[in-house]
Amino acid sequence: MSRTPIIAANWKMNMGPKEAGAFLSAFKEENLCECKGVEKVVVPPFVTIPAVAEALNGCSCLGIGAQDVSDHDNGAFTGEISTAMLLEIGCQYVVVGHSERRQYHGETNAYINKKIKKALAAGLVPIYCIGETLEQREAGKLEEILRSQVEEGLQGLTAEQVAGLVIAYEPVWAIGTGKTASAADAQAAHAFIRSVVEKAFGADAAAAVRIQYGGSVKPANAAELMACPDIDGALVGGAALKADSFAAIIRAAGV
Ligand code: PGA
Repeated sequence: MSRTPIIAANWKMNMGPKEAGAFLSAFKEENLCECKGVEKVVVPPFVTIPAVAEALNGCSCLGIGAQDVSDHDNGAFTGEISTAMLLEIGCQYVVVGHSERRQYHGETNAYINKKIKKALAAGLVPIYCIGETLEQREAGKLEEILRSQVEEGLQGLTAEQVAGLVIAYEPVWAIGTGKTASAADAQAAHAFIRSVVEKAFGADAAAAVRIQYGGSVKPANAAELMACPDIDGALVGGAALKADSFAAIIRAAGV
């Protein structure tokens, strides 16, 4: 089955509305609407999303995602943002379970599972982040960790729902460190994740679900990673803060 690669820019806590405007002007100059066969997404901080939607002015070649979402619909949850609010400001995607949320905000697989269900119920495409720490990898626990993140995070979903979401495999030791997993190691982890999806949700869901790689992806290593059969795009942090390097990574995934 051919899967359309998806390249997403995770801006994290960078890029206020003004800076994003400058980024998008530079990004437009790259003429990437012409670059077919690759889904492109930008994931700004919440407060920047309306400015991005306005600057895109209806252009559908760049999708918009949020970096997190509440597991509740509305009410007394100070600081939280609901799926309905994300839809209202123009989001189509939402990142859930990023390792920084797991590490600094104590998010667990079970909690993230609730957010994934909320996102799917609202019609948002979840980008579900998983990945092991260096200690876990060195202790030989890579497969155990990935299996529990897939099984617990996606628990209770239908095969159709799993087929339509995106998993981002991001080894924690590779995020923002300049250390990328080798293409062979990344491919092996992606193939393992797909096998866990197959066991839990069947062959069709496993063949359809897109699995992005994340962790120090840059123009210099993107093509080698994207050439791996089970790698379907990238979730890019640092290298997606500059329009030209984000564009170069998109081109590496395009056909
Ligand atoms: P990085 O971040 O590309 O800066 O390593 C990736 C991510 O955390 O999504």
